[in-house]
Amino acid sequence: MKKAIKAWLELILKRQGLEIVPRGILYDWQSGAQTTPPRYSQSRLPEGAADYLTQDNPKLLDIQERYKSADPDVTVPAVWSDGYVRSDDIAYFRGDNGWVWQVRGRNTNILSYALTTYYLKSIDHLGLFGKLTEDGYFGNFTFDIDNRLISRDLLDSISEILFLDRHLGIAARADLNLLDIGAGYGRLAHRMTTALPNVRNYFCTDAVAASTFVSDYYLRFRGAERAHVIPLDEIDKTLAGQRVDLALNIHSFSECRLEAIAWWAKLLAKHRVKHLMVVPNDVTETPGQLLTNKDENYLPLLERHGYRLLVSEPKYADPVVQAYGIKPHWYHLLELKA
Ligand SMILES: C[S@@+](CC[C@H](N)C(=O)[O-])C[C@H]1O[C@@H](n2cnc3c(N)ncnc32)[C@H](O)[C@@H]1O
Repeated sequence: MKKAIKAWLELILKRQGLEIVPRGILYDWQSGAQTTPPRYSQSRLPEGAADYLTQDNPKLLDIQERYKSADPDVTVPAVWSDGYVRSDDIAYFRGDNGWVWQVRGRNTNILSYALTTYYLKSIDHLGLFGKLTEDGYFGNFTFDIDNRLISRDLLDSISEILFLDRHLGIAARADLNLLDIGAGYGRLAHRMTTALPNVRNYFCTDAVAASTFVSDYYLRFRGAERAHVIPLDEIDKTLAGQRVDLALNIHSFSECRLEAIAWWAKLLAKHRVKHLMVVPNDVTETPGQLLTNKDENYLPLLERHGYRLLVSEPKYADPVVQAYGIKPHWYHLLELKA
């Protein structure tokens, strides 16, 4: 009888995507786990941040107005529609939200964070763990691992810099100019300009007003003088006469319409940006494809603008880490044909 009830229950639960497992095999962070994690950690905001980082800040309203007049090809949203950024996301922009998801889904538990930390330490040929730190400001989720604060912001940034150095030797290139398309709150701009003194200019741009607004605040807060936030309607003019060696698109094209990706590709080709790093949101291997969240392959579109795929590799070279490390995406590097 007991067996029959269990089998029946299992069948019902399976249909709901649920499973009965013995409590003894669960870790403490798994039992009673919240299905909807909190959006922000209890971290403090720096002085003045709560007053400045509001949805009715005149600077943000002004950027929103300006972006309304920009080319709809690039501004009509696929994911970042009105309401996607909630009012408290503005002050707690480093929380678990659309800019950087941190504590939801698989591979975002403390084991994944620990595995990723020790893995990256084992390949950190630039000594980035000694140069970059975490303070948890602006609602960021942190884990205490190896006697220091660890966040996805820190780990992803280290992983991306190491990838770029392995393939392009970015740490040794004099006067490097970078362009980050869909730069979010300025995560990688802050990390790159802190870790690499040879970065001359790190331009951040975006088609979402809230991203332009918070990144401008964040990079000033971090004192990142070589990072420049360029509003969408000034990016073409800024790039004219400016050599840009490498463009970055990290989890941004996945959240764009194909028209927007084409808009950016045209801009990159026009300004002869030689290399482009792309990190799609997709975590499965899709050889020869770069996918949006709607599974549209935009590689042919980049190819039409002269870019060809040079490198595609898993974020973590060790398959065990790729299976269990945080956010196991794929990294791609493209080059503009001469
Ligand atoms: C998931 S966040 C990633 C942010 C940042 N690249 C990072 O990795 O920390 C996606 C970013 O894409 C930007 N974005 C959305 N639509 C865009 C568009 N049409 N053109 C450029 N960026 C866009 C968002 O504003 C946001 O900054």
